[in-house]
Amino acid sequence: MSDPFSYPPVRLRENSHPAHQIDESASGMISIFKCPKCNANLVATNSATNKTYCCVNNHSFDMAKEGYLNLLLAQHRRSRNPGDSDDMIRSRRRFLKTGYYHFLANSIVSHVLQTGDNQKVLDMGCGEGYYLQQLRQASNQLDLCGIDISKTAVRLTAKRKMGAQLAVGSAFNLPLHNDSVDIAMSVFSPISVTETARVLRPGGRLIMVGPGERHLAGLTAKIYAQNVPHRGNNIDNSLALFSPQGQLDIKDTISVKDADILDLLKMTPYYWHAQPEQQDQLKNLQRLQTDVHFTIKSYQLK
Ligand SMILES: C[S@@+](CC[C@H](N)C(=O)[O-])C[C@H]1O[C@@H](n2cnc3c(N)ncnc32)[C@H](O)[C@@H]1O
Ligand SMILES: [Zn+2]
Repeated sequence: MSDPFSYPPVRLRENSHPAHQIDESASGMISIFKCPKCNANLVATNSATNKTYCCVNNHSFDMAKEGYLNLLLAQHRRSRNPGDSDDMIRSRRRFLKTGYYHFLANSIVSHVLQTGDNQKVLDMGCGEGYYLQQLRQASNQLDLCGIDISKTAVRLTAKRKMGAQLAVGSAFNLPLHNDSVDIAMSVFSPISVTETARVLRPGGRLIMVGPGERHLAGLTAKIYAQNVPHRGNNIDNSLALFSPQGQLDIKDTISVKDADILDLLKMTPYYWHAQPEQQDQLKNLQRLQTDVHFTIKSYQLK
């Protein structure tokens, strides 16, 4: 893999707009991302550094030192720090690192690789980058990109240095060109069906991962009087644009230990529903046995 600190550039297509202020020697290094203000191509102003990307209308975006662009405009942000809180993101990073969800990652990887590895894959709401990294470990050929509305999440993803193109952006205003992605995936993240359809090439695939009915039943039993299944991200009401290609339910029972229990709680919306004494009880628990149940749904753009 090339220098992990550099942002992976791609060559400017002949019909792309030439940007102003571009160093000639750059010979047009163009980002996969588009300008969020005017939709034009974003091109590196200097190919040696790839530190600043600029469009034909002189909207300019600096690459963060970790290697991502912040393309979230103020009007697309509902709060100062949108998305999951830093605490949730860090809990998710620690929990996923322990490998409890490795079997889900394997299944996502095989879904993606079903159509080969020469593909451009977009992870929408990529979080701290666990699933992108699993894809990179499975193949160096995949052209990976990810967006998340949380800057902390994208920064942590970028620190993985896996040669993915990354941006802070919203799934509801994807900073990508039309028809530019082969596979879009969403793992427990919000999704806009129309935006996803816009960026997927004709015939492109959407892979959605959400909770099945039994997901974390052992954890919710400690919080609610009866099992409350986590509401997943679902596009079943929007099948005008996508044809369903199949659904796979995968289940396991995991035995979560010590501090991982609180991390698991904190990375889910259940944390906000748990009373302080329930949080304390979970914090002091040494083992939590729980079902994990995921649903992987595949769709094809019509
Ligand atoms: C439950 S987490 C899942 C993260 C990651 N896919 C994973 O499974 O590890 C949901 C993620 O969606 C992000 N998110 C929330 N609203 C978003 C939006 N409008 N656009 C993009 N990402 C968003 C959050 O910041 C968070 O990282
Ligand atoms: Zn612009």
